[in-house]
Amino acid sequence: MAKIALVTGGLGGLGTAMCKSLAQAGHKVITTYYTDGSDKFAEEAVAWEAKMKAEGFEFKAYPCDVASYESCEAAASLIKADFGSVDILVNNAGITRDSMFKKMGKDKWDAVISTNLSSAFYLTKQFLDDMVEKGWGRVINIASINGQKGQAGQTNYSAAKAGLHGFTMALAQEVCKKGVTVNTIAPGYAATDMVMAIAEEIRNKIIAGIPMGRLAQPEEIAGAVVYLASDVAGFMTGAQLAINGGQHMM
Ligand code: CAA
Repeated sequence: MAKIALVTGGLGGLGTAMCKSLAQAGHKVITTYYTDGSDKFAEEAVAWEAKMKAEGFEFKAYPCDVASYESCEAAASLIKADFGSVDILVNNAGITRDSMFKKMGKDKWDAVISTNLSSAFYLTKQFLDDMVEKGWGRVINIASINGQKGQAGQTNYSAAKAGLHGFTMALAQEVCKKGVTVNTIAPGYAATDMVMAIAEEIRNKIIAGIPMGRLAQPEEIAGAVVYLASDVAGFMTGAQLAINGGQHMM
């Protein structure tokens, strides 16, 4: 049955693919985009909605700084006013602020922990009670291979992404008898702007270290989101799906 799916950070590489794949699976998809209140971000969101519409997708994007509890509350009240409640929450929005630990300042630590980890608490808090009340819900947290294996230059990101799966496992236990599942997807390196921002020489070395010898296509990650959001994934909870081209096998 069609559900309401909220994908945070839908304008990004993985997020856009997730929005499209969930829509193709028959769900009504909404998303959030980062804003500091300036016109620039709202204009980008309008342009993205128009581009999606031209491709046949009807998505609505809401402003939300996922690193701020107040902003998440404000976005959730707009979303609830428009759609009632959210059935499928994909905590996808995330950033990198890569730096070797020696050079990493508190600003980079705080930005990544709040955007990539605290955000899952902030957003899930807005929608979980409704899922429990309905007796059906899906929380899907997008972590990373680097939360599983660690990555030099990413103490902040690796800590946040590992923490995200801790959040998944704990919450999964709390709601497993209520029809709500909570799972993590740990993507490897995908062909997105985030990965393309890595210096070319370093990126090429990373790709050479992936047994499949290539980056993931965003759709290859989005497919797992569709699966976890489905009824047939009802017995899977507290799990972490690794999708990394064989780069890290556990
Ligand atoms: N392991 C251990 N040491 C390493 C290293 C590694 N992998 N890479 C570099 N170093 C060491 C160097 O040998 C050098 O040591 P010395 O100072 O003793 O000579 C030192 O680190 C270089 O440090 P710098 O601070 O000068 O390096 P930099 O500022 O030029 O670059 C960096 C630092 C930006 C973190 C860069 O190394 C980098 O981009 N690394 C890739 C990080 C990465 O994989 N990010 C993933 C982003 S995409 C993503 O996160 C999506 C996802 O989920 C997969």
